[in-house]
Amino acid sequence: MTEIAVAVRGLEKRYGAMPVLRGVSLEARTGEVISIIGASGSGKSTMLRCIPLLEVPEAGEVGVAGEWLRWRPKGTGRVPADKAQVAALRARLGFVFQSFNLWSHRTVLGNVIEAPVHVQGRPRAEAIEEAEVLLAKVGLGDKRDSYPAQLSGGQQQRVAIARALAMRPAALLLDEPTSALDPELVGEVLRVIRALAEEGRTMLIVTHEMGFARDVSSRAIFLHQGIIEEEGPPAQVFNDPISDRCRQFVTSHLRR
Ligand SMILES: Nc1ncnc2c1ncn2[C@@H]1O[C@H](COP(=O)(O)OP(=O)(O)OP(=O)(O)O)[C@@H](O)[C@H]1O
Ligand SMILES: [Mg+2]
Repeated sequence: MTEIAVAVRGLEKRYGAMPVLRGVSLEARTGEVISIIGASGSGKSTMLRCIPLLEVPEAGEVGVAGEWLRWRPKGTGRVPADKAQVAALRARLGFVFQSFNLWSHRTVLGNVIEAPVHVQGRPRAEAIEEAEVLLAKVGLGDKRDSYPAQLSGGQQQRVAIARALAMRPAALLLDEPTSALDPELVGEVLRVIRALAEEGRTMLIVTHEMGFARDVSSRAIFLHQGIIEEEGPPAQVFNDPISDRCRQFVTSHLRR
C-alpha cells in the first residue's frame, strides 16, 4: 500500500458491552483530505484514536505509510505484537486535538522542536531551521520565543499544528481542531488547515465546520453509530447524500 498514507480495515471497538465502532474501513491516499462527520457519540474520535493505537481496537487492521500493524493473541483477545512498531507508526502521524496540550514551560520553538530532536533524534540546528519555516507557515514567525500562556487559543492551536508537522508525518489527524476556540479565532486556524490541504498534505479531519469540510475535503465520511453510513465526494455527502440520516445531519449543520 505504497500510496496509502493511512488505512483501517474492519475496525471494531467496544467499551464494555457497548459497541462503538462496528466494522469501519477507510483508506487515505497520499494527498487526500478526508473529513469525518457525524452526530456526537457516533465514534469519530474513537476511530481517529484507533489509528495511532491510543485506543486498541478488538478487531480490524491499522496501517500507516504502507505498513500494517502486527498483532499477537493474548487471552481471548489480542495486543500489538511489537511495541517498537507501535511507536514507529505513531511517529509517522501528527495529531491535533481540541485541547492544544503544549508544554507550558517550553517556548513555542521549544515545543515544535521537542519531538524531532528527542523522538526522531534529528540534529537540533536542523530541527530549529525547519521549525522556523513551519512557524512562518502558520503565521507565527514572530512568536518563536513566547510561552504558550502568552498566546491566544488560536495561536496555541497553530503552534500545535506546526508541532505536528515537524514530525514530517505521513498524515495529520485532526479531531475538532477549532471546537475549543472562541468564534473569532476559528477562522485563523481554518485558514492554516486550508493552506495545508492546498499544498497536498494528507489529513483526516473530524469537524463540525460543515462548510469548511465541504470546501477542503477530497472525500467525506458520515459515521452513524459506529458504521460508515455515507461516503463520497463532498458534493455528494454535503449537498446530495444518499442516506436520509446523512441528509438530515448535514441540513441541520450547514448554516449556509
Ligand atoms: N474511554 C471511554 N470509555 C467508555 N466509553 C467511551 C470512551 N470513549 C468514548 N466512549 C463512548 O463511545 C462512544 C463514541 O465516542 P466518540 O468520542 O468516539 O464519539 P464522537 O463521535 O467523537 O462524539 P463527539 O462529536 O461528541 O466528539 C460514545 O458513546 C462515548 O460515550
Ligand atoms: Mg469526538
